[in-house]
Amino acid sequence: MGKNTVTIVNNATGQELELPLMTGTHGPATVDIGSLYSKLGIFTYDNGFKSTASCQSSITFIDGEEGILLYRGYPIEQLAEKSNFMEVCHLLYYGELPTKEQYSKFSWMITRHSMINESLRDFYHGFWHNAHPMSIMVGVVGALSAFYHDSLEIDNPRHQEIAAHRLIAKMPTIAAASYKYSIGQPMVYPQNRLSYCENFLQMMFSVPASEYEINPLHAKALDLLFILHADHEQNASTSTVRLAGSSGANPFAAVSAGIGALWGPAHGGANEAVIRMLEEIRDVSAIPKYIARAKDKNDSFRLMGFGHRVYKSYDPRARIIRNTAHDILKTTSGNDPLLEIAMRLEEIALKDEYFIQHKLYPNVDFYSGIIYKAIGIPVNMFTVLFTIARTIGWITQWKEMMSDKERVIGRPRQLYTGAARRDYVPIERRS
Ligand code: CMC
Repeated sequence: MGKNTVTIVNNATGQELELPLMTGTHGPATVDIGSLYSKLGIFTYDNGFKSTASCQSSITFIDGEEGILLYRGYPIEQLAEKSNFMEVCHLLYYGELPTKEQYSKFSWMITRHSMINESLRDFYHGFWHNAHPMSIMVGVVGALSAFYHDSLEIDNPRHQEIAAHRLIAKMPTIAAASYKYSIGQPMVYPQNRLSYCENFLQMMFSVPASEYEINPLHAKALDLLFILHADHEQNASTSTVRLAGSSGANPFAAVSAGIGALWGPAHGGANEAVIRMLEEIRDVSAIPKYIARAKDKNDSFRLMGFGHRVYKSYDPRARIIRNTAHDILKTTSGNDPLLEIAMRLEEIALKDEYFIQHKLYPNVDFYSGIIYKAIGIPVNMFTVLFTIARTIGWITQWKEMMSDKERVIGRPRQLYTGAARRDYVPIERRS
């Protein structure tokens, strides 16, 4: 048995197979089981992919036990403190922090791609007026492939890059338009003089009838949240983008599939679910009742914003924005009762034996919703904001997969548990 191998023994047949053990820069060693089926005729079963690395990637690293998150090797704490979202987009997509010249060129490029085709705006009118903005996002982003035929050659690096620029640039415009449509206000065009986050705020909140003053604190808070949400290795939506893209689907279609996956409350929809939960709790005195419900196995209620598949200690992103939530609330409505409930909930849950034993800590979405609410973002737009931020992660991961020399279509197998082979019975003989 080699040192860098793992031996699998099929006790039923006595067959043995030595499998290579791969090591990365950081993180656990990984067994390459690619030959298991062809050599031993068996599959592996890993419900929810708890022990499965689906790809090799050089973009983002997470150590869930230690609460570490790195983008291209840089700790999230340093990027949150010193960088900005545009710079982080460059870092993720191109692999390096930009020089001054690269930064200006990249920002210019993103700014210049922020308008959407006028015909695309007509799509919105086909949606029911009270459609959830995430449903509009899935449709409109998928529809981009009908407009940008000059960026659909999926193996052409230049096409990949233009598609990436377009997705990053147009996502805030598409998102703000989905909100404007839902409240019956005119869609607002982007302004090239504004930064990425300022632009999003003016497209969300300005109206043609009056001046709109952008609050720089709000723009800064958004920028921070976008940095924290930019990428998170092989989560459900990113894996969806990779799987859809592995079939050769174009990047707009693949990202649209990712938006659908993000929408669920166990993933990006949690930020919306947290606020709805805090509103339901309504008063600090009701917290023990909800904690008890979260612990009751016969009750489907979970504390939204708590727990994470990978982080088994404090989510480093939550640690960063916890303070921002306080700062922003001081400058806005003062004491939001929801924040008080959130703080108390966190305090009680962190001391509770069940949450300690299950390693359930607040995640990024426990606080992001509170910040969004404080800056006036409507609750049904929270997951849409996550979509804007995660677009850079999705498109970077898609590009990495497309450039992989060993790229193959993603095609998992299964353990079949249905009916055994049987013969067709004509309808008149069925009982
Ligand atoms: N409240 C109460 N119990 C929980 C919670 C929670 N929020 N999360 C997990 N548990 C319990 C669960 O019942 C199970 O208990 P037991 O082992 O006794 O049966 C144990 O903890 C493990 O849970 P799991 O569902 O097997 O763990 P998972 O890794 O499959 O799920 C999760 C991770 C994030 C889906 C889950 O913790 C959850 O549903 N949290 C609430 C939703 C949420 O905040 N999601 C946002 C994730 S962060 C943003 C993002 O990356 O998208």
